[in-house]
Amino acid sequence: MTSALVEMKNIHKWFGKVHALMGVDFSVNPSEIVGLVGDNGAGKSTLIKILTGVLSKNEGEIYFNGNKIKFSSPREARDNGIETIYQEQALADDLSVTRNLFMGKELQKSIGPIKLLDHKKMKKESENILSGLGLSISSMDQETRFCSGGERQGIAIARAMYFKAKLVILDEPTRALGVAGVRRVLELVKELKSRGIASIFITHNLHHVYPVADRFVILVRGKKVGDSLKKDTSVDKLTELMIKR
Ligand SMILES: Nc1ncnc2c1ncn2[C@@H]1O[C@H](COP(=O)(O)OP(=O)(O)O)[C@@H](O)[C@H]1O
Ligand SMILES: [Mg+2]
Repeated sequence: MTSALVEMKNIHKWFGKVHALMGVDFSVNPSEIVGLVGDNGAGKSTLIKILTGVLSKNEGEIYFNGNKIKFSSPREARDNGIETIYQEQALADDLSVTRNLFMGKELQKSIGPIKLLDHKKMKKESENILSGLGLSISSMDQETRFCSGGERQGIAIARAMYFKAKLVILDEPTRALGVAGVRRVLELVKELKSRGIASIFITHNLHHVYPVADRFVILVRGKKVGDSLKKDTSVDKLTELMIKR
């Protein structure tokens, strides 16, 4: 038995002749912030897509909360408490902030035997959640395409918090953000941790994740070359591992 929240063992993935993951072991403990770091093409996204049921693995085992699992869709992973946030795909652009926050889990009200969407309550809740996170979005009715990159990340993270995800996966959350946006995302990740939610912060930029992560896992061309607690490593040591041939 294991106390890890996520335990991936000996994961192999082939894309045709490309051996994208070569026996990777990867774990996340409850409330832990894990930085999953590596150059473009290292296999980071592939690894989390296997965890969240977007892709299937060729070999290996996955445990979530101590149970052997194989999610067959991202929807199933989400229903089990894993929220994944992609820079582009996290939100439906033409829907309002409120609709995005409650997507797939809309609040309802009953009028006699009839169930209706409770728009008023959802709007009120959205305002509360976002202001509680220090995100000042002018209107909950605003379409999310008019939100900044940082705000969009914030809305997706707020959704994870509201629905009490156990794990939030952020794939390159800071790629398109400026300095202030990056800082905002780091604060939100810390907020997740303070609420007992673990996160996997994926980036090719070690400097973006270093301030916030508890542990760092380094992938180089499909292999794990490092797995260190912050107290046992440094930016220099991690960089050395990333560029090692
Ligand atoms: N759907 C796919 N079909 C074929 N090859 C893929 C696919 N997804 C990823 N790859 C390949 O797998 C390797 C790892 O990619 P990826 O996991 O996206 O890396 P990272 O997220 O670390 O940048 C790369 O060589 C990439 O070209
Ligand atoms: Mg990627």
